[in-house]
Amino acid sequence: MKAYAAGGAVAFHTPAHKRGRGAHELLKNLITDEGLNEEVSLMYALDDPFHPTGCIMEAEALAADLYGADSAYFMANGTTEAIHVMMLASLNDGDEVILPRNAHRSIFAGLALTGAVPFYIEPVYDERMGVAMGVTPDCVKEAIENHPNAKAVILVYPTYYGVAYDLAGISKIVHEHGMILLVDEAHGAHLRFSDDLPADAILSGADLVAVSTHKLIGSLTQTSMLFRNGNRVPDDRIRRAQGLVASSSPNYLLLASLDIARLQMAADGNRMVGRAVRLSNESREAINDIEGLWCFGEQDIGYDGANSLDACKLTVNVTKTGHTGTGAERILRSEYHFEAELCDAYNVLFIISFADDEEIIKKLIDGLRDFSSRFRKKKAITETDVRELPRSEICLTPREAYFARSELIDFEKSVGRIAAEEITFYPPGIPVIYPGERITNEIKEYAAMMRRAGLKLTGTINPKLDSIRVVK
Ligand SMILES: Cc1ncc(COP(=O)(O)O)c(C=O)c1O
Repeated sequence: MKAYAAGGAVAFHTPAHKRGRGAHELLKNLITDEGLNEEVSLMYALDDPFHPTGCIMEAEALAADLYGADSAYFMANGTTEAIHVMMLASLNDGDEVILPRNAHRSIFAGLALTGAVPFYIEPVYDERMGVAMGVTPDCVKEAIENHPNAKAVILVYPTYYGVAYDLAGISKIVHEHGMILLVDEAHGAHLRFSDDLPADAILSGADLVAVSTHKLIGSLTQTSMLFRNGNRVPDDRIRRAQGLVASSSPNYLLLASLDIARLQMAADGNRMVGRAVRLSNESREAINDIEGLWCFGEQDIGYDGANSLDACKLTVNVTKTGHTGTGAERILRSEYHFEAELCDAYNVLFIISFADDEEIIKKLIDGLRDFSSRFRKKKAITETDVRELPRSEICLTPREAYFARSELIDFEKSVGRIAAEEITFYPPGIPVIYPGERITNEIKEYAAMMRRAGLKLTGTINPKLDSIRVVK
């Protein structure tokens, strides 16, 4: 890109801003002259992400090497794209797959795209935190024995809350049964760079791993890497799948940021992530010294389904301050200018990354101390109406329901009908109901409760959820 920009080529091609010459001042300020000068796509000298033979091939090989994988594939449309490619490369229409019901919505979209038939397993639920943890090897084994024809197991590892479980044990079971293991490691791009963090999915033996480089290490938002480990899914099938869903004009600033993030970690990742882990551990201790707050650590878990923890996720239980997680998050945002990663009924989750330092940590601790001292005399919330995600009956595959004839009806009157659209609250992005599942009274109440808790609704056409699209 730099060579192209420096070469003085006269641009007769897209993008029409022509290396920034025609760009609006606002865009120039945003991207900078240098960035716009290099904002080109699919030039002769810039290789082709769908059939890389030049600089992208080299960059992907370096990333694969850093992560200990056989190949890496750069994605410019998020881990959502990496997950769709992973599933389209491994699954055929009608293939059975085993996955936890609390998977991210991108995996459910992958089911609609592939036509795969899901069988759900239950994650372990920890009452103390009010949070779903990981899955156990026994639970996966039982599901495999009940569905011996399944093609793959898809897991989210670690969880959004940073909880890791025995993925190596699960990987062994999956492979012994001739199945493949696909892992959504959206929250694990940094794991490899500290021995004090849980082992990552490649090390644990997964076949394909979708990693959000943009979430936990330094590439731009919307960039992600897919890794192939072993030969159970062939490289050419992955490239073909990429050709199905990726833009034919990938943004090279985004792709370049993946290579730069890789470079940054290769050069100094152990020190940078090591510091983040140390700062996180110090923060966790300091938070646990604040009356009224509790931040769970590795000593609080260590059971099957929740074996270890990514220290960089600080899940702070705020119920003793008399606030729900969503209530506390609102106060912390408006009065302390803290933008947390997510909140749920009980907790607010803060991410500490390689970019943080002592000063930021001090701000966080001082702010939380002040917050708690203001509110801890209030009556603690001992219970909210938040429960585990209710089970739903699958009546149609996600694909059948997505393409079925449908109608829009009153949400109040939807009990008993089969959903044709999903209801998802963000965060955590886990569908409450997915196309093909029957809407029950419990699910209707659960969705209403999530709305009352102030979580952002996505997935339905109607943002207020007065109506919902159901199968005709
Ligand atoms: C567990 C999990 N998987 C997948 C994704 C999708 O990643 P992206 O937003 O990069 O498309 C997310 C995003 O939040 C996630 O939390």
